Amino acid sequence: MTTTSSVASSSRLFLRPGADELPLDSARLFGREAPLVVEIGFGNGWFLEYLGESYPQFNVLGVELSVSSTGRAYKRLLRHRLPNVIMYRGDGRFLMRDALPDRSVSRIYVNFPDPWPRRKHRDRRLLQSDFFDLAATKLQRDGSLVLTTDHPEYFDFARGQARNSGAFREEITNPDAALLQTRYAKKWLKQQKDIFHVRFHRVDDRPAQPPVVTLLSQELLMQHALMTGDLSGITDFEKHVHLLDWGQIVMRDMYRSSDGSRLVFTVLVEEPGLKQDILIEAEPRPNGVFVGIQKFGSPLVTHGLGEAVRLVTEWLAERGLTVVKTWY
Ligand SMILES: C[S@@+](CC[C@H](N)C(=O)[O-])C[C@H]1O[C@@H](n2cnc3c(N)ncnc32)[C@H](O)[C@@H]1O
Repeated sequence: MTTTSSVASSSRLFLRPGADELPLDSARLFGREAPLVVEIGFGNGWFLEYLGESYPQFNVLGVELSVSSTGRAYKRLLRHRLPNVIMYRGDGRFLMRDALPDRSVSRIYVNFPDPWPRRKHRDRRLLQSDFFDLAATKLQRDGSLVLTTDHPEYFDFARGQARNSGAFREEITNPDAALLQTRYAKKWLKQQKDIFHVRFHRVDDRPAQPPVVTLLSQELLMQHALMTGDLSGITDFEKHVHLLDWGQIVMRDMYRSSDGSRLVFTVLVEEPGLKQDILIEAEPRPNGVFVGIQKFGSPLVTHGLGEAVRLVTEWLAERGLTVVKTWY
């Protein structure tokens, strides 16, 4: 990884995709040109802080799904303001896919990812082959993805997925000492577990893929429909799958709210590099039946979500409701 030693002028701690223009310009974000290092799932932020402190020549961008972990990391980073560290509270897959330009990342760290050990939960794992494909387009030519885990089965799984993507050469080594200081590293070492470490070097020269779907806005209300008609007679539901050019939408289930007035649909939206389980609600309001996405779980607003609202609206239209107006 090449380095520069200019001093960052940024004092921001958070990236806000609603406000920051996408794809991100890391030089603008950090206030200087420097190699970009990304940590996905930074937990309490120990390693993020270590990277920022030990490598002032890097721009360090951390992403973490959990609000409470991000809060802990925020407190840690507030204590020692590091101008070269910025956090994003959200999904690392979104950050990689929609926020970062191709060929912009020097290194990606994934330390002790959630292993999702049950077979039926495997598709929740971060390091799937489509993620390696994505990483291959985002990493620079000499870039690498560094995995450290306590979980031997996940370790083998990730290596297999990297091989499937055909874009990486693996190098198995002992982890750097700092990687054994994270909260989870300490926890597993205390239990005398082995720690597995691999560096996946990007080797292919595949052309960058244009993103198929892009973030529209953080505003969920943009994607909704207004209908008229009666929801009370709708009782039957059968799961169905809509295959699309860019992925699929699965209408999984339908529930009626406890007061009987609203219908709630659980829907899986699968877009390249991004799977989201969302709730779409049909609710009678004074001006008609509002069909829209529930904010629960903070879904990312993509074209796929708009398509999901359209499918639910069409499904309701087939059952006697009338479309007044749509916004998707
Ligand atoms: C087992 S913890 C490890 C935390 C930290 N890396 C450490 O070593 O102490 C896994 C972390 O990854 C986060 N995570 C899981 N999936 C994620 C995703 N798609 N994007 C960002 N963070 C994610 C979880 O919220 C959790 O904090």
